[in-house]
Formats: sequence, C-alpha cells, structure tokens
Amino acid sequence: MTPRPVLLYHPKDAQAYAQLVRAPKGAIRLEVCATPEAAASHIREAEILYAWKFPAELLARASRLRWIQAMGAGVERFLVPELPARVTVTRATGMFGAWMAEYALGWCAWVTQRMETFRRAQRERRWEPLDPEPLHGRTLAVIGLGDIGRAIGRAGAGVGMRVIGVSRSGRRVGGVEAVYRPAGLRRALGQADFAVIVLPLTEDTRGLIGEAELRAMKPSAWLLNIGRGPAIGEPALLRALREGWIAGAVLDVFDAEPLPPEHPLWAMPNVVITPHVAGPSVPAEIAPVFNDNLRRYLAGRRLRFVANRSRGY
Ligand code: GLV
Repeated sequence: MTPRPVLLYHPKDAQAYAQLVRAPKGAIRLEVCATPEAAASHIREAEILYAWKFPAELLARASRLRWIQAMGAGVERFLVPELPARVTVTRATGMFGAWMAEYALGWCAWVTQRMETFRRAQRERRWEPLDPEPLHGRTLAVIGLGDIGRAIGRAGAGVGMRVIGVSRSGRRVGGVEAVYRPAGLRRALGQADFAVIVLPLTEDTRGLIGEAELRAMKPSAWLLNIGRGPAIGEPALLRALREGWIAGAVLDVFDAEPLPPEHPLWAMPNVVITPHVAGPSVPAEIAPVFNDNLRRYLAGRRLRFVANRSRGY
C-alpha cells in the first residue's frame, strides 16, 4: 500500500495539529505547512487536505485532491469555483456550540448585568446601585439553527430566556418556542431582545440582514454576529447603530478581517468588537473529527459532516 499524501496547513498551529494526527503505520505521508509558499509546493500531490484558511487560489492546482477536512465550521473558503468537483469537503462539527453559547450568553449578560457601568464606577470609587436587567423572560432569537445555534438556544433557555429561531427548513427544534423559515426572519427579529446571527456564508445568506431586517428590530435590542460578517449588510448596520434602530451590537466577524484600524465600527460606543474568537478551533478538539474521518477514508467508508456543495455549507 502506498502512503496517501496528506497536506496539513495551518498558519500558526500546524505542528500542534500534526502531533495529534493518528493513522495506521505507513498509511499516510504527512506534509506539514504553515505558509502559502510551502503549501503551494505540496498541493499538487496531496490527496487529502487538512486545513485552516487555505489559500483558495491553490485549490485550482490540486489535481490529485479527493478530500478536504476543514479545521473550522465554516467551509465557504473551500467551496469555491477553483475546487475540483471530485473533492469532498467535511466540516469540523460538534465542538463549537459550547464555546459559542458561552460567548453569546456571556455578552448578553455583559449588557444586562451592566458590567461596563459597574467597572467604570469602580474605577471612580463610586457606589452606583443600579439594578441589573434580567435575561430570564427576555426573547433570544437565534438566526441559524445548526448544531451551534441549537447549543446557543439551549443555553438561553437554561437561564430562562424565551428562545425563538430561524432556519432554512423551519423544522421544530426542542426548547425553541417558535422556528420561522427565512420568510419569517423579520417577524423573529421583531420579537428579539437579543438576536444572535450564526449563519454560514452562502449565496442565500450574504446580505440577508439588511435595512428592512434591522428596522424590524426593537430599539432596545442587541444584535450579536458570530457567524460571518457578510450576512449583515454593513452600511445598514452602521446606520442602525448610529440612528438607534437597535441598542447595540456585539460583533465577532466582519466583511474584512482583521477589521481595518480606520473602520468606523471601532469607535462606536454601542459596539463591542472581538477578533473572530467566538468559536475557536482548538487542535485537541478538532483532531478527533479528522482522525475518525481519516479512518473512514482509508477504509473506503462514508465520511462524516460532509458539506453540501449546492447548499454552500
Ligand atoms: C470559524 O469561524 C469557523 O468557521 O470555524
């Protein structure tokens, strides 16, 4: 049996991922790359690509590639026209819900527990007995009810929030009081005290949240975007934040990342910016998914978490 060439690519953690790859002796030949230049010299012979933020232009040269395991949940960077049709793309699934639920609930509580206000008062040695607001009884709208969105919904329900959501199918989800189809997006947003956007980036979701959707929200509502920046139309979002259509936004993802220093969002008092950290890819959490799929691949069995190319995620 000739070893299957595997290209592992990660700009920062390539070695950490490499150390966790498990395969039968002699079954694979692993090339570990941390730069596009290094990846460019191995992509032609690779049969398997295990990667994070892989340069899309290199995919056109991947003449022997059969399978890509993404180290993240979003696969839009791989589902590009350059990707040969024979290549199967699999997502990393199962590990992000817990992280992103903590992020979402944490920042919701940052609003309701007035954390910023109390920290400021503390710095000024000022006793400021201002009651917190509740999360319980408030409405959490989760836009995108994949495994991550469902975990966020469970966390919200766990603190007594009323949880509603939007999904492509509109199918019922346990613990979610009402699930709307995309046509009901504005109705869902209109009820939200907190709306968490956790959508993959596809042709259908690009710009899905625009002026009409933001205007449908309550002026007291907070928007959290932890999926992909382009799901929200940025000009409309800037207006919504400046003109008080919504109370504020917690943003982890942006049209351009890193967010350029001159971007107006940085200076807005009702905006929290975090640098795409809501659902971190941790090598030890991603590795079991790859190793399991690798075993399946080598045995000619079906892979898990296969992305649907026509659906876009
Ligand atoms: C991160 O955004 C990911 O897609 O996992």
